[in-house]
Amino acid sequence: MTINMVADHAKWPKQNDAIFGLAAKAKEAINKFGKDKVIDSTLGALADDEGNLICMETVYSELKSLPNEEIAAYAQVAGQPDFLEAVQEACFREYRPDAFTRAVATPGGTGSVKHAITNYTNPGDSILVCDWFWSPYVTISEEIGRKVEFYTLFNEKNEFNIESFKENFETLLKKQKRIVTIINTPANNPTGYSLSDKEWDMVLDIAKENAKDSENRIVILVDVAYIDFAGVGQERRKFFTKFSNLPENIFIIIGYSMSKGYTMYGLRSGAAIGISSSEDLVEEFYYSCMHSNRANWSNGVRGAMSVMTHIANDPVKLNAYEEEKNKYKQMLRERADAFVGASKEAGLEILPYRDGFFVSIPCDNAKEVSEELIKENMFVVPLKKGLRFAVCAVSEDKCKLSPTIIKRVMDSLK
Ligand SMILES: Cc1ncc(COP(=O)(O)O)c(C=O)c1O
Repeated sequence: MTINMVADHAKWPKQNDAIFGLAAKAKEAINKFGKDKVIDSTLGALADDEGNLICMETVYSELKSLPNEEIAAYAQVAGQPDFLEAVQEACFREYRPDAFTRAVATPGGTGSVKHAITNYTNPGDSILVCDWFWSPYVTISEEIGRKVEFYTLFNEKNEFNIESFKENFETLLKKQKRIVTIINTPANNPTGYSLSDKEWDMVLDIAKENAKDSENRIVILVDVAYIDFAGVGQERRKFFTKFSNLPENIFIIIGYSMSKGYTMYGLRSGAAIGISSSEDLVEEFYYSCMHSNRANWSNGVRGAMSVMTHIANDPVKLNAYEEEKNKYKQMLRERADAFVGASKEAGLEILPYRDGFFVSIPCDNAKEVSEELIKENMFVVPLKKGLRFAVCAVSEDKCKLSPTIIKRVMDSLK
């Protein structure tokens, strides 16, 4: 190619999405060898034991019962007002913080990540995330001229590495006088780690200490994309109450997604929820994100918003939805327990798993191991620091078998 037509900032490597590429290869193998011969642990979507996408009946019967106009109409730019209430209810449940809150509808959790990074950093700034991270954090940052710095998620004891968080947080804040840090908990993608309530206290203590300098601006984006599949009952929501009465210069944004909790991946819905002890600052958040909605995608998916609102506001529907979701939550727990247990038996080192769709296996040659595993008809996503196994997509039986195969292949490459 002799010239470029795209502007300099829009030149990117000619790359297809690696995970979707591997998933396509897994599908090919399934067509060739049959479902029972292939372990496809690529995509972050719940699948039944046969590998078919799970689509929640309580969600799709609601969607299909909507009048056409309720699906076809434009939504308000910030989202339908009843949805903005319902989504906060769905997110916080009984753990709503004692603070001012406002929500803005976004297309999935991705939209809230985009808004938080765009609206709370300056051009050229860096955001802070951990070294086991969801790669679109980087894609989104780079797209808009921001950079990403990393702290180490785990210490030698495989606990949350608060020292590394503190050091990187304070260095960046000192330099920029403002910071956006993304904490993907509960059920971190890719490790399945969830911060304990005590670890949250340590994080907030560091934030509060640094908030004593009134020039500092501290923004914590809590990416809760997997919260609906985490913990027992609502225990993994307790930390929300810790966002009560924070200093004004600590602003919390919750990135809520309907993709996993409602199996509505393709219907692109979720919300950014701002939390502050200042009413002015949640207003500022609301109008800033509404402006971004208009500038980026105009408005969200009206039918998806209606599904959540109708379920949240009808006790019978809510109950049925909860029951159905809990069935899948239990299924996920059993698969994860099977994988974690079998890893222990096989002597396969994994990172500490608490909740969610994925388990990670640390290794230096993830790409090589992943390629070797393909020869065994096992498809596992290679990351920079290890392999990501999607327990959400693999039956309990196969979750039990997989660690031995992975261990054998890893040993053979030593
Ligand atoms: C860590 C994490 N955050 C956010 C999302 C948001 O997804 P969506 O935009 O589909 O809601 C995902 C989905 O894969 C994710 O894994």
